[in-house]
Amino acid sequence: MAIGVPRKRQRPTGPDIEPGAADLELQLTYPGKRPAADILRLDPVEVTCLWRSPEPTNNRLYFAENSGVLSALARDPGICGQIRLIYIDPPFATQTAFHSRGLDHAYEDTLAGPDYVEFLRTRLILLHRLLADDGALYLHLDNKMAFHLKIILDEIFGSECYRSFITRKKCNPKNYTRKQYGNVSDYILFYTKTKAWVWNRPVEPWTEGRDREYQYVEPGTNRRFMKVPVHAPGVRRGATGDMWRGMQPPPGKHWQFPPSTLDEMDARGEIFWSANGNPRRKVYLDASEGVGVQDIWMDFRDAHNQNVCITGYPTEKNPDMLRRIIEASSNPGDLVLDCFSGSGTTLAVADQLGRRWIGVDNSREALRTTLKRFADGTTPMGDFVGKRGSKDKGDSNANGNTTLDLFAAGTSAAEETGSEAPKPHHHPIRDFTLWAEHALAAEASPIVHEWTTRISRGGNGVAAHHFVQRTGRFRSRWASAFPSSGSPMG
Ligand SMILES: C[S@@+](CC[C@H](N)C(=O)[O-])C[C@H]1O[C@@H](n2cnc3c(N)ncnc32)[C@H](O)[C@@H]1O
Repeated sequence: MAIGVPRKRQRPTGPDIEPGAADLELQLTYPGKRPAADILRLDPVEVTCLWRSPEPTNNRLYFAENSGVLSALARDPGICGQIRLIYIDPPFATQTAFHSRGLDHAYEDTLAGPDYVEFLRTRLILLHRLLADDGALYLHLDNKMAFHLKIILDEIFGSECYRSFITRKKCNPKNYTRKQYGNVSDYILFYTKTKAWVWNRPVEPWTEGRDREYQYVEPGTNRRFMKVPVHAPGVRRGATGDMWRGMQPPPGKHWQFPPSTLDEMDARGEIFWSANGNPRRKVYLDASEGVGVQDIWMDFRDAHNQNVCITGYPTEKNPDMLRRIIEASSNPGDLVLDCFSGSGTTLAVADQLGRRWIGVDNSREALRTTLKRFADGTTPMGDFVGKRGSKDKGDSNANGNTTLDLFAAGTSAAEETGSEAPKPHHHPIRDFTLWAEHALAAEASPIVHEWTTRISRGGNGVAAHHFVQRTGRFRSRWASAFPSSGSPMG
């Protein structure tokens, strides 16, 4: 085993360091890079309330360009500094136009180079401002821009707030004929706002055979255990560097616990003494919840097999992956934000886990899909095959493709169960307010109208009259759309 002694770098940190100036030693320079202060002064968006749930709610869905929403949220004292977790899965600079499985246009991913980096940096500076001091950000990217954005994130958060670079297996192996290795991975960069952050250690159950590592059996109790050192790398001047039982920690090491704690552990029989008097700590199999999750995630492929339930939105992520992230980095009641929310995966999982949420997306197809998911849940992937709508069921889009109605027969989960009621395992989401950027409100209105009609027909307790017409009384400037005093987020 390699032995290394960590050495700490001294450099300025703290809340007074302006985002964009935290890591002055190493920066990415490119044309068009704006001062962070200018980004923090961006104009907030003007929004219209399109719908609100009958009960007061903290959850918000915005059909809007996200930088204006983030600017508005950053001015709201009820929100700014209150967000515990941000997960974003932005466009990856793929130079692609994405369509849903129904061939409806979803969004363009055409930015590249400096324009792309500055687009994301702008949002990341605002997101950093919005995070709670013990909050975390997860940025999902692929190999094209992940390394550029690692440098940008170090600039904004400070490299000492970098936590993990997670590799996710995104698909099954491809039968590559190119002269290179098959690309099956993408990446999630995990940063925290400060050095104290919410962390519910995720563990995976022991796989068969792993328990063989617990090779010793304690006489008397028959408990299986393994032996691990009682010391750790690094010299300490406090109690963990003191003598214990007449022994100094080995050179370059310190005790893992103060001598008084080691005494208590020994009294409980938790220290194993070798024949020549060396102490080792016993780690019991029955006290272990499993093995801590590592930074390679193999189990969260996108919907590439017929068993996975999906919405049909392109690039939608695996809900189980979001469950892992949300459970690890937030607690029930916490506020979770996704400002590239797409089909609403983050929002739906956050809601199931009892978190409050804010979602933003400026794609009409994303709005349609999210509302459908909230009402009906997801659908087994295989059911999308061969179920394109016929002309009498839907409209034609600009490409001449037939588009399906939001709740058209043959596409909804409700139809699968033979009724309009949601699936038994589906948890309908109706506890939120829906806002649209003024310029997009007219586009959203028919989708929202169709949705409110559906949910009131479905008998899930939400009446269509909560739909607020674009010209109605909730049309307002951003200031009244983001109530600061007595804010429900406060
Ligand atoms: C990769 S998809 C997100 C998919 C999502 N994670 C899911 O599970 O469905 C990226 C999303 O970002 C949205 N988007 C791109 N630029 C945006 C912007 N400036 N403001 C708001 N949304 C944006 C796109 O419409 C698209 O839905």
